[in-house]
Amino acid sequence: MARILAIESSCDETAAAVIEDETNVLSSVVASQLAVHAKYGGVVPELASREHLRAVVPVVREAMESAGCAFGDLDAVAATCGPGLAGALLVGLTYAKAISFAAKIPLITVNHIEGHIHAVILEAAQKRTPVELPALALIVSGGHTHMFEARATGYRLLGRTRDDAAGEAFDKVAKLLGFGYPGGPVIDVLAPHGNPREVRFTLAKMKGNTLDFSFSGLKTAVLRWVEGRDMAAEIAARKLLLRAVPQPSVAQWLEVTPKATLDLVASFQGTVVAELLRHAEAAAEQVDGVRSIVVSGGVACNSGLRAAVTERALGLPVYFPSPGLSTDNAVMIAAAAFPKFRRGEFSALSAPAEPNLTLA
Ligand code: KG4
Ligand code: ZN
Repeated sequence: MARILAIESSCDETAAAVIEDETNVLSSVVASQLAVHAKYGGVVPELASREHLRAVVPVVREAMESAGCAFGDLDAVAATCGPGLAGALLVGLTYAKAISFAAKIPLITVNHIEGHIHAVILEAAQKRTPVELPALALIVSGGHTHMFEARATGYRLLGRTRDDAAGEAFDKVAKLLGFGYPGGPVIDVLAPHGNPREVRFTLAKMKGNTLDFSFSGLKTAVLRWVEGRDMAAEIAARKLLLRAVPQPSVAQWLEVTPKATLDLVASFQGTVVAELLRHAEAAAEQVDGVRSIVVSGGVACNSGLRAAVTERALGLPVYFPSPGLSTDNAVMIAAAAFPKFRRGEFSALSAPAEPNLTLA
């Protein structure tokens, strides 16, 4: 029996989890900093580091207590080493090093993107429908929009965004329209109330790797759409609502959002989903002997994307994580650490935080 404690602090969640033997989740704690960053409409790196410092010790303590174990019961400690915000990564990684040194257990450093893939592998294994490799892995979050060929032996990058990540596009469009931060969940619940065919967006043709994404043009197109209308009053009404109710209900949003804006929101989401799907289909064809599709990251929560991918998945099984494991968490970091633990792939206490770490 082996137990790994993992710590995740790459962006705006401080998370810790203990898992036993690959798939048995003993505890999972996530402290979100949403409330801290919401008023800035995005993650402020300096504030993120400070909040991680505040949260990391209590979050790890809670994960250990609810797992019912002491540091002496652990076989390894894992932490995200990148990619992410440098100051944020350092907090979790440094605390993991301290635990490694004090408890005399090996340190395992984990790539955050590989973590997102392992969230899916773990849940599929729990349901006894293991992910079949090679797979096409689509990682869509606030920080990443990447497609990889995933094999037992490693990863190959097939395409990535050249500018904004898909989640970032959701967040920027939502901010522009006065829906607050993060934008993905709000756009997701409002999109079904609009007509996705009402506003036509044309996306830039990619030169070079045609599997790459670009979402910044779409964001600019939404900006132009907004500038061409008198939206000041409705945007002000939504900001007022957000000040009164931190998490408005769908009905409350609908009261302050006219039909034209709902159509825009639906069309925007429809365009992003179609773009992700088109690329995933083309990328799957590049994976020799592809047997499944794995979708992960915060945007994997999106109902439109789930419905579309499931409907048109090239006859391949598609795996999504449950919502709790789609967004950042430490269970996925522990899950990605297990194969390394079995192979004895440990890191030195001098291992650096690597903000621009890549997978592949
Ligand atoms: O994976 P995550 O928690 O953090 C990163 O590693 O970035 O992803 C957060 C991102 C945010 O941009 C958020 O707006 C987006 O995921 N997101 C969604 C949904 N839920 C979260 N985007 C679209 N639809 C959703 N339901
Ligand atoms: Zn993430």
